[in-house]
Amino acid sequence: MKLSETVIRLMTRLAVEHRAINLSQGFTDEAPDYEMTWGAIAALLGGTQEGIDRLESMTLGDLISLSEGAGGNASKMPLKDLLSRLRNPYDQFSQYSFPFGIRELRVAIADYTEAFYGHRPDPEDQITVVLGASEGMAATYRAFFSPGDAVVVMQPFHEIYPSQAGIFGLVPKFITLREDRDRGSWDLDRDELRRAMSDPAVRAIIVNTPHNPTGKVLSEEELAFIAELCNEYDCFAITDEIYEHIIYDGHRHHYLCAFEGMADRTITINSISKTGKSTGWRIGWVITPPEHTRALRAVHDNLVVQAPTPLQKGAVDLLRRDAQFFAGIAPKYRIKRDRLVAGLRSVGFALTPPEGAYYLFADYRKVTALSGFDSFDAAMHLIKEVGVATVPGDNFYSPDTPEAKSEGGRYLRFAFCRSLETLEAAIERLHRNL
Ligand SMILES: Cc1ncc(COP(=O)(O)O)c(C=O)c1O
Repeated sequence: MKLSETVIRLMTRLAVEHRAINLSQGFTDEAPDYEMTWGAIAALLGGTQEGIDRLESMTLGDLISLSEGAGGNASKMPLKDLLSRLRNPYDQFSQYSFPFGIRELRVAIADYTEAFYGHRPDPEDQITVVLGASEGMAATYRAFFSPGDAVVVMQPFHEIYPSQAGIFGLVPKFITLREDRDRGSWDLDRDELRRAMSDPAVRAIIVNTPHNPTGKVLSEEELAFIAELCNEYDCFAITDEIYEHIIYDGHRHHYLCAFEGMADRTITINSISKTGKSTGWRIGWVITPPEHTRALRAVHDNLVVQAPTPLQKGAVDLLRRDAQFFAGIAPKYRIKRDRLVAGLRSVGFALTPPEGAYYLFADYRKVTALSGFDSFDAAMHLIKEVGVATVPGDNFYSPDTPEAKSEGGRYLRFAFCRSLETLEAAIERLHRNL
């Protein structure tokens, strides 16, 4: 299989080259959660748990006396030198740790999952800390399936689902979500799904909710239907739940693993990338039925050894934030969503406002300046002539299906996870240049 740079990363590279405002890739330009950042700093400087405890209880006064005791004038000292006085000469957290994740983080993941969904995975037997959802997905494919096995993928899709399937010799079987703009929904055709799942080669379905790129949040009924099919056709569900806290307008995220008959057949993939605004930290986790955990950990260990130890310490502090913190994530994105929805509509884009996640999958065919282009050229025009980077819609569809042209060919994906000022600047460019 020939692999190439993902189109999303290509668009990010072109955005830099053409000084376009980058609304292509799904990462923010805002600071990550401070508690989480501090957790990693404390691990890096503190070195050991005793060192961290010492740092946590320290005041500026303590730090000044420590420095002045060593003969320095603390108020004149560069912060970097001052902080070096805190460094523990002994270290545990910049070193290799358990390949499947430090215990403290696995327990935090279990507590967090229980707090939100009333379902507690066993930190010893079910949770593996990985390098983001992306590695979690790859390790799952390799550990659970064999070349030739098929996995059902809903298109439009996050591009790693089929591309990683290709790496491991798996066969993606596509079904298509279709926009009903009048009703304001992206719809799952149950007959099409049943037909796909009944193929004997199919071993699993990938479920991404809230969904990238459409923003669809699968309802309880839709998930119950998926659970019913998984049970009927003896398939796994691999769920990608990284946008679980980014949900609008009263929609709710449901935990598929808790549906009837699903505990033994659900692989739950999650990460701190979106929840902690920390896509570059590369910390995620996979929850597996106990009998499959060993196989997953073996792939993970051989592939990457482990996720970075000090950043795992930071992730503990993120997952231990209170309920108010997590409830506060979506409202900020809702303001951005509403602003970009209005901005895009005002220049002629047509769209269904997303129920969750932070993307707008917008139909550009009524935008006069773009209407003659296919979606790749429309995206190139936006980057070069308008100064805004997006992702062409056909990138989210398999080129082997007619829907790549008939459906994907009319969309562009905008990410609205950037700061409001960045979004305003992008909207202003669209108004000025389209
Ligand atoms: C649906 C989906 N899954 C997975 C990822 C990658 O997540 P991670 O950074 O945890 O690897 C993304 C990133 O945008 C995504 O949108």
